[in-house]
Order: sequence, then C-alpha cells, then structure tokens
Amino acid sequence: MRIVSGIQPTGQLHLGNYLGAIRNWVRMQDEMEQGSECLFFLADLHAISMPHSPAELHAATLEMVAALTACGIDPDRSILFNQAQVPAHAELQWLLNGTARMGWLNRMTQFKDKSGKNREGASIALFTYPVLQAADVLLYQATHVPVGEDQKQHLELARDVAQKFNNDFASEDAPVFTLPDAIIPPDAARIMSLRDGTSKMSKSDPSDMSRINLTDDADTIMQKVKKAKTDPEPLPSEVEGLAGRPEANNLVGIYATMANITPEAVLADFAGKGFGAFKPALGELLVETLGTITSRFVELKQDREELDAILAKGALKARALAGPTLNAAYDALGLVRSHH
Ligand code: TYM
Repeated sequence: MRIVSGIQPTGQLHLGNYLGAIRNWVRMQDEMEQGSECLFFLADLHAISMPHSPAELHAATLEMVAALTACGIDPDRSILFNQAQVPAHAELQWLLNGTARMGWLNRMTQFKDKSGKNREGASIALFTYPVLQAADVLLYQATHVPVGEDQKQHLELARDVAQKFNNDFASEDAPVFTLPDAIIPPDAARIMSLRDGTSKMSKSDPSDMSRINLTDDADTIMQKVKKAKTDPEPLPSEVEGLAGRPEANNLVGIYATMANITPEAVLADFAGKGFGAFKPALGELLVETLGTITSRFVELKQDREELDAILAKGALKARALAGPTLNAAYDALGLVRSHH
C-alpha cells in the first residue's frame, strides 16, 4: 500500500479537514503494514493558484506542519513534506499536461466554483490545478488517497490521466502509473458550515464563525457551537427525521463522528430535546477531543527550526521515492535525459 494525500497550507486546519481527511491519515499511518508507506504533503504549489500573500503562505506552511504533527502525523513513520522542496511534482505536472484534455478540466467543479464570474481573470494554475494534483499522487505510485468528498472529482481525473498515459506511452505489461483509489470516510465526507448547512465548511469562507479551527480555544469553540445556525424543532428520534434539516443533520453528524458512534445513537440520547440542550453537549465534546491537539499545536509551532527540519527530512525521502517514476515518465515520452 502506498498512501498519499495533501492539504493546502492556506488558512487554518478546520474540523472539516480533520474529520474528512487528517483523522483518516493518522489512522492509516497507525495501521500501516510492513512495506507500506505514507506520504503526506503541504500543497504549497497549489496555494499559488489563488491570490496570496507570500509571507502568509510561508508562515502557514510551517504552521500546518505543526498542526498535522499535533493531530498525530508522526514524521518518523510518515513522510511529511511540502511540494516546493520536491521539484518532481512540478516536472511531472508538465509532462502530464500533454496527456490531460481541455474537456476534462472544463468539467471540474472546483474551477467553476473558485473562478466564479471572473473566469477570464482566473490564473492558469487554477485551471491546471487538477493536473498538478494528479502528478502529486501518480509520482509515488499511490494506491490509496484519503480525502474528503470534494476531492473525489480530482482523483477521478488523476485516474483518467494515468490510464491515458499508460495507454498512449506504455506497454500493457509495464504501465508507468498506478491508478489510485480515493478513500472517503462515509461518516464525515462533507462537514458543512456552521452558518449554512448546505455549503461545506471551508478555509475560504469569510466568516470565521462558519468553522471550528483546530486552534480555537475552548471559549471560542463553545461560542461558535452556540451561535451555529439551527431550526426551531427538537431533535427527532430517527435519522429520517433529519431529512430537509441540513443544519441539524450536520451537527448530529459532527457529534457522531467525534464520539465514534452512529447518528442513530446520538438521536437515541437527544430525541425530543432542543438545541439548547444539544449544543452545549456538542461543544463540550469538541473541546474535550480537540483540546489535546490544540495544546500540542501551540507548543510545536514555536519551534521553527524543528518544523524546518521535519520538512527537509521529508523532502529528502520524497525526492528519492519520486525519482524512478519521474524518469520512467520522461523515458516513455521519448525525452532524452542522461540519468542512465
Ligand atoms: P484542502 O486543503 O482544501 O483540504 C484538505 C482535505 O480536507 C478535506 N476537506 C473536507 N472534508 C470534509 N468536509 C469538509 N468540509 C472538508 N473541507 C476540506 C479535503 O477533501 C481534503 O482531503 N486539492 C487538495 C489538496 C491536494 C491533494 C493532492 C489531496 C493537492 N494535491 C493530492 C489529495 C491528493 C485541497 O485543496 O484540499
């Protein structure tokens, strides 16, 4: 098994990232079998596809190392690095640009969402973003890619790119790329905004009240949960009763995933009760579970030298793993190189 996944170091790690992806990364790392390898990276090259502040990107990249480590990613067992220190990502993207089709990228919903009405003013990087993401996983022969639901389409594109490249440039018995599978947690595929149960919790939402950051202190978490949008009805006794109630459904879902129980079990405890009773319980559960992560994060992020060292060590390992596949891609395309 080769497990590969990434996160953009923009803004802060929030509950959606944690439950949708990072918690799965940690589980996969902890259950990793002999001979398997986990690679987790900061998608700093992806972060320049949108307007950004260089100073903030730099700081956020180091902070994200601290955040991931605080969540349980162990840089001795997993390879933790940033794309910018592994040039093979950008190189392979260019090689794959010859294979990816305009029509495929035109169908990507993220480009449509992020470019909005300003399609002509969007960066080329935002458009070819999914090709870089394909390079990220294909470079390491990833077999499993743990992500939230919103990345599913990008992963399908990565498979299409791999398939077409193999068909066009490799023999059937010696494919250049492995087709990766997306691993999406059924219970936390899409954590929604606290202000609107129909849009996903996101780093780019202008309202900080819409998300729980892993760095929020206990008071802030309680505040955000208490102010979360809800409806006036009490909680139902069956999950069917959550249909058409996106905010209630989201909060019950968060409670269930955090407590590692089913939504049915949550409703068994809270059926007939209003949000006045449910919200404090959810807030306390979040404070309790996220508290250890937050305090480790606050401690780790002070040590800039250590964070740099973690990334340097990870990049060294990642570069070594990337080399053979990158060479195979150059060779397959007939590009003359002197590595032999
Ligand atoms: P990013 O940085 O937006 O998010 C990181 C991970 O968190 C998941 N996620 C969520 N899951 C559930 N509910 C939510 N509200 C929520 N918000 C975010 C995302 O699905 C993701 O798994 N393009 C990627 C980064 C990337 C990548 C890759 C991922 C670059 N290359 C290669 C996998 C493989 C992104 O912007 O994720």
